[in-house]
Amino acid sequence: MVSPALAIITGGASGIGWASAQALSAKGIRVVIADINADAARERAAELGGDAVAATLDVADEDSVSALFESVTEDYGPLTSVVNCAGLTIPGTLADLSLADWNTTISVCQTGTFLTFKYAARHIVDGGSIVTIASLNGRQPGVGLGAYCAAKAAALMLTQVAALELGERGIRVNAISPGLVDTPLVAGLSMVPGMTEDYIENTPLGRSGKPEEIASMVAYLLSDEASWITGSAFDINGGAHTQRYPNLLKHVAALAL
Ligand SMILES: NC(=O)c1ccc[n+]([C@@H]2O[C@H](COP(=O)([O-])OP(=O)(O)OC[C@H]3O[C@@H](n4cnc5c(N)ncnc54)[C@H](O)[C@@H]3O)[C@@H](O)[C@H]2O)c1
Repeated sequence: MVSPALAIITGGASGIGWASAQALSAKGIRVVIADINADAARERAAELGGDAVAATLDVADEDSVSALFESVTEDYGPLTSVVNCAGLTIPGTLADLSLADWNTTISVCQTGTFLTFKYAARHIVDGGSIVTIASLNGRQPGVGLGAYCAAKAAALMLTQVAALELGERGIRVNAISPGLVDTPLVAGLSMVPGMTEDYIENTPLGRSGKPEEIASMVAYLLSDEASWITGSAFDINGGAHTQRYPNLLKHVAALAL
């Protein structure tokens, strides 16, 4: 890794992004916590202390992504690392999902991934590294998760295209596909009776994950220890990819009865 290292973490103010910010900062990497939740980003950067920076970012808005990468490289560059982590999900079966909800999930998880790659490619130094937080749902379908599954499958494919396009500059691009990780994103789902139990029943290691268990892989992939790894996706999910995804809507429907 080029030294001194500087990382932008999209969605860095919560969950996996925040754990990644902490892991990278602990390795002496300067982190830019970039999030649509500006207050949370500021609080997290203050909590981290040192030279951590907070930035407001909407990954679905090209002007916002472009401005972030320009200002960060101008003010703190050279940019060595990017963690493409911002995400959300709005559940709904294909028969019921509104176009607006489809567009929201796609714009953050898919278009946001594309825009982050676009400006990362323009601003990151040769020899830098990018990690995208995709999902188990990028390859394992979930009832009621059509938009999210489609967007995460796209994120996995964009990772491979980016690895192909940026390899000649020595830039490594990889993805992580987490299973159920205890973060605010899934707090609502986990409160649906039976949902977490169903997931765990289909997970060989018998539990959900902690954000730090994804962050350690982020830190590894961005480091020189991963110097010959690019275009790869890593299942970090306690082995859940070997079995089936729980039927989210079955549990929600049971709740409504
Ligand atoms: N938690 C899980 O079980 C799980 C599983 C697989 C994949 N993931 C993926 O991991 C990533 C992080 O999720 P998390 O679980 O830490 O969720 P989280 O809700 O804790 O964090 C997501 C962060 O993204 C930010 N964000 C949302 N929309 C944004 C936008 N338009 N621009 C910039 N920032 C935005 C949020 O403000 C939040 O800080 C997501 O891409 C998610 O899809 C999570």
